[in-house]
Amino acid sequence: MPSASITLDPAFRTGEVPRRLFGSFVEHMGRSIYEGIYEPSHPKADDDGLRRDVVELVRELGPTVVRYPGGNFVSNYRWEDGVGPQAERPRRLDLAWRSIESNQFGLSEFMRWAKLADVEPMMAVNLGTRGVQEALDLLEYSNHPGGTALSDLRIKHGDADPYDVKLWCLGNELDGPWQVGHKSALEYGRLAAETGRAMKLVDPSIELVACGSSNSSMPTFGSWEQTVLREAYDYVDYISLHAYYEERDGDVESFLASALDMDHFIESVVSTADAIGAELGNRKRINLSFDEWNVWYQSKFHASDIAVGRSEWVEHPRVIEDEYNVTDAVVVGTLLNSLLRHGDRVTVACQAQLVNVIAPIRSEPGSDSWRQTIFHPFAQMAGRATGSVLQLAVSSDSYESEKFGTAPLLDASATWDAESRRLTLFAANRGLDDALDLAVDLRSLDPAGTDGRIEDALTLAVADDGSRFTANDQQRPDSVGMIPLSNVVVDSGTLKAELPPLSWSVIALDFQ
Ligand code: AHR
Repeated sequence: MPSASITLDPAFRTGEVPRRLFGSFVEHMGRSIYEGIYEPSHPKADDDGLRRDVVELVRELGPTVVRYPGGNFVSNYRWEDGVGPQAERPRRLDLAWRSIESNQFGLSEFMRWAKLADVEPMMAVNLGTRGVQEALDLLEYSNHPGGTALSDLRIKHGDADPYDVKLWCLGNELDGPWQVGHKSALEYGRLAAETGRAMKLVDPSIELVACGSSNSSMPTFGSWEQTVLREAYDYVDYISLHAYYEERDGDVESFLASALDMDHFIESVVSTADAIGAELGNRKRINLSFDEWNVWYQSKFHASDIAVGRSEWVEHPRVIEDEYNVTDAVVVGTLLNSLLRHGDRVTVACQAQLVNVIAPIRSEPGSDSWRQTIFHPFAQMAGRATGSVLQLAVSSDSYESEKFGTAPLLDASATWDAESRRLTLFAANRGLDDALDLAVDLRSLDPAGTDGRIEDALTLAVADDGSRFTANDQQRPDSVGMIPLSNVVVDSGTLKAELPPLSWSVIALDFQ
């Protein structure tokens, strides 16, 4: 049987778990909002039209921060359309997704939903078709307590308390030619710097995210980050990263190795940001906001491109409602591992998206909502990763992947919570056919040799009656989930586990 080992020591940690790592994203796109989180006619909607069944699933999933309102949508959005009496709100063309935007859901509804779902709001401003003034107006409306035209307008609209939004994205993917208001790096860098500078005059407590590249295959990747940061370094706190992975042409081995690409992407952007800091003689550290990541079958989306192929304009059409299987969930688990491993520099991350649109939660109008397979690794890690991120010494058998070269069979991350004396290990076996024999040296955590109590050992894997393509759907919403992981023991300071083929597991040990 292939094998792997981990040695860990609580003295070797990268830092505290940045809880904003477990973020998500709702965009005015497809049925993410309408029929997703908002559906006034649904039997489970509250008085504000918010679906309580979906809110319950969101709370169970456990995102800490949620980005809004886009995405590509934000680049031709007027935030003013979404505030004030709903009956007076204009219907507009949304050019990003070729839809009609009714504006029945806007800023105030989002803030009410965020409170109900217990998440921190992360707002994006439109730097595609708009600029400094509109960003300032939105910030004043949102965060200023009162006594000015825009803060008083918010109060008149029924929200007496300021929203106090701390995290702001300076536009979205403006390096992409598909973006409305697409810009060169220099054009965007100047605009981000001036918008950021002015926004911090309104509210110095906010944190700002500059757009990095839309993905690491962009022809301008690297040089875009350098130019933007040269202009905006003083005014921003984060640079963004976006990445989507999929299984292409049956190359499952490369797909399963996607986290290696994510590791490399993160480390490249950290180096680039630090190099610009050095060049500018600026000791401030720019952190990373990985504010769009997931599995997304983009090749299928392009084949039936709803946005370009449709001639009529409709409200909230079904767009990229990908159905996720076991393999996708294991890959999502490894992407979460990669983010946690880099928690010293990636301090904000948002899985894209939350409901219906490439999402862990699905919902049907007037009907059910349910958990997709990718819900489970996210909920496990968001719920359990507390304390410090440990630096692991890993040794693993490996295999060759076409796209990303040699890939270890084991992909792992771990946290140590000194207060509760709990070790939590997140471990994937990328091997398709064989179980992986795992040994974890725990002696430094447990010098007294009490061995620790196995509090929980769960896995997401292929069921006896399933395949790696098994998914959850409305009829069978629980086909794939976390099930007990058998064959886990702790003996003489070593944890031994047999990780099933193609699996993502969580093992929690209590050293009280
Ligand atoms: O998440 C879907 C889309 O992917 C977002 O709108 C955009 O930012 C990205 O290209």
